[in-house]
Amino acid sequence: MKFTYIDSLATQHELHFKVYAYRSVMEFIVAEGLEDFGDCMGRAWCGTCAVKVISGNLVADKTQEEKLCLTSNFLDKSKRLTCQISLTAALDGAVLQYDTEDFV
Ligand code: FES
Repeated sequence: MKFTYIDSLATQHELHFKVYAYRSVMEFIVAEGLEDFGDCMGRAWCGTCAVKVISGNLVADKTQEEKLCLTSNFLDKSKRLTCQISLTAALDGAVLQYDTEDFV
């Protein structure tokens, strides 16, 4: 399975993954050396790991903690916190783009 990640420098990466190989997409992206984000260590507090979901059915899966963080920090409903996205089949084929521009 794979998904596409467009990083903070607008470079596109095709990332192959095994289901649950990492605790979250955020940990996977950091392990791949693509970003140095995740200030709250995946607690859905900081918003530094936010992405825009360009394609894929991931928006409806938001956790309660994520909704609270995104409501207070973001206006765009298409955003997710990568620390709250699991490496599951739902991620297969998705396109995620680094996007913290609305972060306050
Ligand atoms: S690591 Fe802080 S919100 Fe995801």
